Amino acid sequence: MKEEKENIFTIFDDILQREDKESLLQQRSIVIWMTGLSGSGKTTVAKGVERYLHNIGILNQILDGDNIRVGISNNLTFSYKDREENIRRIAEVSKLFLNCGIVTLNCFVSPTIEIRNIAKDIIGEENFIEVYINASLESCEERDVKGLYKKARKGEIKDFTGISAPFEAPKNPDIEINTNKLSIDESIQKVLDYILPIIKNK
Ligand code: ADX
Repeated sequence: MKEEKENIFTIFDDILQREDKESLLQQRSIVIWMTGLSGSGKTTVAKGVERYLHNIGILNQILDGDNIRVGISNNLTFSYKDREENIRRIAEVSKLFLNCGIVTLNCFVSPTIEIRNIAKDIIGEENFIEVYINASLESCEERDVKGLYKKARKGEIKDFTGISAPFEAPKNPDIEINTNKLSIDESIQKVLDYILPIIKNK
């Protein structure tokens, strides 16, 4: 006669929810969406925020060109249609992180109001903190960290944001950081002052 094995795990109908993950991590998950020109300082500010949050025990993840455009979006160009698709994918990835209780720091040019609305709609307005990293085109071009502005001016890169493709500043961002006026430390502090009360309010 076959021996009946007893189940050691209870099988539930539903997978665990965002609240369960947030309560495990003792934090509230949100998406911090940094928009701005190439070279405006999005990733620099995000890296400072990342370190600070990590040190105080907040699990977070930076999403930027370095990990998105080389992987999940490596088949996309910088045409407007492909940028829309890039942002749609990033927003869907952010939503998965959100449901896992994790704070994401997203650094993408996301150049138009329409494109950022795609992200906001997918992520949900209540989970979306828009940060405008505002640096003048002149200063981004002067820094030209990756040498891309020079190439864009010579016509070697087409559809380059600020040169041959549009950038629309957010009308009413939750946070605006002028990296021409504030130091990196001050910029990081400004983001932290806004997000910490939200993240810690579990
Ligand atoms: S987005 O418009 O789709 O949001 P994303 O943030 O992923 O752009 O990528 C922007 C980065 O890609 C820039 O910081 C720059 O280093 C690089 N890049 C390469 N080509 C372009 C281009 N035509 N326009 C803007 N950025 C470009």
